Amino acid sequence: MNDNAHELIDAGDERRLERYGDRVVDRPALSAPWPPRAASSDWAAAHLRFERGTGWEGDLAPWSIAVDGLTLELRPTDSGQLGFFPEQVAFWPWLRERLAGRVDPAVLNCFAHTGATTLALARAGARVTHVDGSRSAVAWARRNADVSGLADRPVRWIVDDALAFARREARRGRRYDGFVIDPPSFGHGPDGTRWELAEALPDLLDACAALATDDAFVLLTAHTTGLDADDLGDALVDAFDPGPEAEVRTEAIALTAATGALLPLGVGARMIRG
Ligand SMILES: C[S@@+](CC[C@H](N)C(=O)[O-])C[C@H]1O[C@@H](n2cnc3c(N)ncnc32)[C@H](O)[C@@H]1O
Repeated sequence: MNDNAHELIDAGDERRLERYGDRVVDRPALSAPWPPRAASSDWAAAHLRFERGTGWEGDLAPWSIAVDGLTLELRPTDSGQLGFFPEQVAFWPWLRERLAGRVDPAVLNCFAHTGATTLALARAGARVTHVDGSRSAVAWARRNADVSGLADRPVRWIVDDALAFARREARRGRRYDGFVIDPPSFGHGPDGTRWELAEALPDLLDACAALATDDAFVLLTAHTTGLDADDLGDALVDAFDPGPEAEVRTEAIALTAATGALLPLGVGARMIRG
């Protein structure tokens, strides 16, 4: 990631210590059970700290960071998040390569949250349909488009349940050249519909496959503990039924701390239909 927007300083004791722009944040990370390596004075110097049960302490005012030429607003949320997932940025070059050379490509970004990947796609020339079940997340994404100077790009901002929206698009005969799918383990659509990844993912992938062009690309990432990257790849192949020329790549997602600690953050699968 350029622009010096994010650094994982250390991870340990089931916590992560990160710098986002000019603020240092200390918050839970169950995937880091080992002892921390950074000095306790480094951990104590955090500007913001989140504890399950008691919430945030520190300066709760929003701030901005510059990520790969985008400007993103960060703010502490009730769930201990900040509105930006730095591990997703590593996928942007691959997405840009998939868009290069396509004429007016349409991309469906499900669970699109505060819009960082939507804006990276729009800047690379895609017509993006940004879908998220949270009205406030979509409003936040639109603010990020504004402050990034991308408000005029062809983005459809949709507050909806991802599965319901994908099925509706199929009934309308819509087609997409690319899909970005980054579902939470558990979540909610706008009308309170419960989303549970293990149960709903096959239906969502089938609904997206019904919208896919013959040479569509898909980036699927997930953050559920214990989920295997190859299982994610198999789920993509089952749903999208790619030809023999298809490329499927699976991987573990992690961030490396300045101290050398490796923080696991989920698994990913990418596919290009052959
Ligand atoms: C892990 S975040 C996605 C992170 C995002 N891809 C990024 O890099 O910024 C999960 C998002 O899914 C949304 N969500 C949860 N359940 C949903 C559903 N059923 N339909 C659509 N969006 C949902 C949440 O509002 C949240 O913004």
